Amino acid sequence: MIHAPSGDTPAAYQRAYREAQPEPGGMVVRVNLEARESDWEFTSRRPTRAWTFNGQVPGPCIEARVGDVLEVRLTNHLPEPTTLHWHGLRLPAAMDGTDMVQHPIPPGGTFTYRFTLLDAGTFWYHTHSNEPVQLERGLYGAIIVRAPDEPLLDRERVFVLSDVMLDADGEVAPHDGADRRGGREGNVRLLNGTSEPELMIWGGQVERWRIINAAGARYVRLAIGRRPFRILGTGGGLLEAPVVARDVLLAPGERVDLAVGPFEPGELLSVVAEPYDRGVGQGGAEPFATLRVGPAAPSAASVRDVLRAITPLVDGPTTASREVSFTEEVTVEGEVEFLVNGERHHRADPVTVGELQIWDIVNASAVDHPFHLHGFFFQVIERNGVPTALRSWEDTVNVPAGGRVRIAWVPDDRPGEWMYHCHILEHHAAGMMAHFAVVRPSAA
Ligand code: C2O
Ligand code: CU
Repeated sequence: MIHAPSGDTPAAYQRAYREAQPEPGGMVVRVNLEARESDWEFTSRRPTRAWTFNGQVPGPCIEARVGDVLEVRLTNHLPEPTTLHWHGLRLPAAMDGTDMVQHPIPPGGTFTYRFTLLDAGTFWYHTHSNEPVQLERGLYGAIIVRAPDEPLLDRERVFVLSDVMLDADGEVAPHDGADRRGGREGNVRLLNGTSEPELMIWGGQVERWRIINAAGARYVRLAIGRRPFRILGTGGGLLEAPVVARDVLLAPGERVDLAVGPFEPGELLSVVAEPYDRGVGQGGAEPFATLRVGPAAPSAASVRDVLRAITPLVDGPTTASREVSFTEEVTVEGEVEFLVNGERHHRADPVTVGELQIWDIVNASAVDHPFHLHGFFFQVIERNGVPTALRSWEDTVNVPAGGRVRIAWVPDDRPGEWMYHCHILEHHAAGMMAHFAVVRPSAA
């Protein structure tokens, strides 16, 4: 296990990192998750009644290899029904954890999710029931799937970013609908369930940071002491080559893998969300953690120039086969509605296995919306009519206010009921989502 090396020395971490590098998968990874209310210290001031998996926020980090079978038995000890969605994983429709494909697990009930892990990357699991409430209270966790040829750095860490709105008593404040338009951003920012922790990296070392934005609405334009880092991967795994940047935008649901460092011993850097205006106004930089650089240690990190090849799904100009439009409308009663193609909980046309999909995601509203497609990866091919230079696989992409993002994807042979939605949880709950079927050609 990468996260618990024996002996807190740089060499122990390097050894643990290398030992965790997988042989080809093929094992069954069994995990028991219990969703239950537990005390959790989001801040050091006082404990909060949180909703947890196995008593912790985030839930246990699940680690496996490409080719392994993941079997997760979820027992629900919460006072209300719940389900688990496996964000980014290509699994059979019946395992997707939405209420289209399963009955929510009642209080006292259990359900076993079982599927093969097909892709390497940084993924996450989260409740897919009463999401604005259940997710904020703590029902989310990371899934790391490794391939045999991962870049080798000095240490690897998983950081789940989120936030929570605590009231004066330290409890999660009730949802009153006041933050419906932009979605609710908490007043406490969290890294691995803790408010603004201090992290340590050894001088001269380079670490792989797998970062997940699990917040319900908060965008994180992540910067680390405003120093350059290398982006190794995004939601659907590694890029073709590392990209140097000083900040990277993570909309809710998105992930990024970075090579961080090296830094000089004694430096103190802050891990912050730089200002980003998603249409709801913008404040200053918001700290998530402090990074202290410890004494120098030898580095054995090596990041290849070529990480992998990504075959483009399209080559040259395209025309959209479908338009998905995100709009906001104010009803005569003054309620804001969040719609897809003019409807709440839109029913979209089926797509056929093997047929190239070119979708234009159009945001006609004045706030950004992160588009998330369940169960399949896509390539972003254009933003506002401009072809994208960087090729990657994604399951979530931000569609800026007034913007248009063209994606391409091919449904592989996993027929069933699927969905896409805005990953701002209040918008999803308000109906900014669509259901559609993936069908086999004979049935089309
Ligand atoms: Cu992470 Cu339906 O979403
Ligand atoms: Cu939205």
